[in-house]
Amino acid sequence: MPDGARAPDGPQGTGAEPLLRVEDLRVDYRTAGGRVPAVRGVSFTLEAGSKLGVAGESGCGKSTVALALLRLLPKSARVGGSVLLEGEDVTAMRWGRLRAVRWAGASIVFQGAMHALNAVRRVGDQIAEPMLLHGTVPPGRTGARVGELLESVGLPRWRARSYPHELSGGQRQRVMIAMALACEPRLIIADEPTTALDVMVQAQILRLIDDLVAGSGIGLVMISHDLSVLADTCDRLAVMYAGRVVEEGPAAEVVAAARHPYAAALSAAFPRVGDPGSRMAPRGLPGDPPDPAALPEGCSFRPRCAVAEERCAATDPDLWSAGDGGRRAACVKVLEEAV
Ligand SMILES: Nc1ncnc2c1ncn2[C@@H]1O[C@H](COP(=O)(O)OP(=O)(O)O)[C@@H](O)[C@H]1O
Ligand code: SF4
Ligand SMILES: [Mg+2]
Repeated sequence: MPDGARAPDGPQGTGAEPLLRVEDLRVDYRTAGGRVPAVRGVSFTLEAGSKLGVAGESGCGKSTVALALLRLLPKSARVGGSVLLEGEDVTAMRWGRLRAVRWAGASIVFQGAMHALNAVRRVGDQIAEPMLLHGTVPPGRTGARVGELLESVGLPRWRARSYPHELSGGQRQRVMIAMALACEPRLIIADEPTTALDVMVQAQILRLIDDLVAGSGIGLVMISHDLSVLADTCDRLAVMYAGRVVEEGPAAEVVAAARHPYAAALSAAFPRVGDPGSRMAPRGLPGDPPDPAALPEGCSFRPRCAVAEERCAATDPDLWSAGDGGRRAACVKVLEEAV
């Protein structure tokens, strides 16, 4: 474990396993053109009831991490490291156990609900399906439970009879969230849950996720290319670049005073939630993220880093301790300041 990472027994030192502990997660995709190292040693922990935001430009490996957490990656992916959900390694689970854990242990909300929902089935039936599959609700109670779930995401019960095309984008995303909640998971992974929505609806959905998670003990991993979305919703932030976490810490502190030059550029570029420019390269940051199959020598951020030095070509820095609250950053300058 790198310096400054949380101690294995969690922040309170209770000895209890955190809800989620990801250790040295590595994912390579095998392609005709060769090996694509999409995730290169990601580690983090998430306590029950807390919210971790994962930020970074498109292509930095966020969705690959999300899919790896529930073993939803394509067959071409090779996975290393471990994903411990309440102490149980998801990467080593037998198929039957894995099926039970998906939904009931942890569930995932994707971007673009239209594609994730079945266009020819009523949304109530789709919400009911995981409950019936996992036997979490007696068959006679399913309709009532679907109604409760719809109300909890701000939709009227009668919407159970609607087809996806009869709903707006925001309503469909609410249905997806109701599905994710159906089996009362302990962990929800939301991958760009509001990206396809306009700014007003985006704010409503973020508030909904916040309310549902608050006080429920559910852990949330929320992924977005837009740091401002995460800053408002999450307790902690992990900023990814080229398949690695380059900065991690309390959300407000990372946004206000990032220690890694990339995290600083991201925070400075998009202060407003839903800034349409957030899909582009952050303002003031030239160039594009590297192709994972052809990473630069040394620090992978070096070609775009305004404060790079010669020595940055020789080291790909580890995540070093960068202050109180478990702050960590992967930059040679952070190590220097800590000495
Ligand atoms: N199925 C795949 N096969 C090969 N490469 C992939 C596959 N899925 C993603 N990648 C590559 O892995 C990298 C990370 O992708 P992804 O996890 O989707 O990033 P993000 O969600 O941050 O945009 C990108 O370079 C992407 O092109
Ligand atoms: S290690 Fe060097 S190139 Fe990398 S972020 Fe720090 S200063 Fe920039
Ligand atoms: Mg993605």
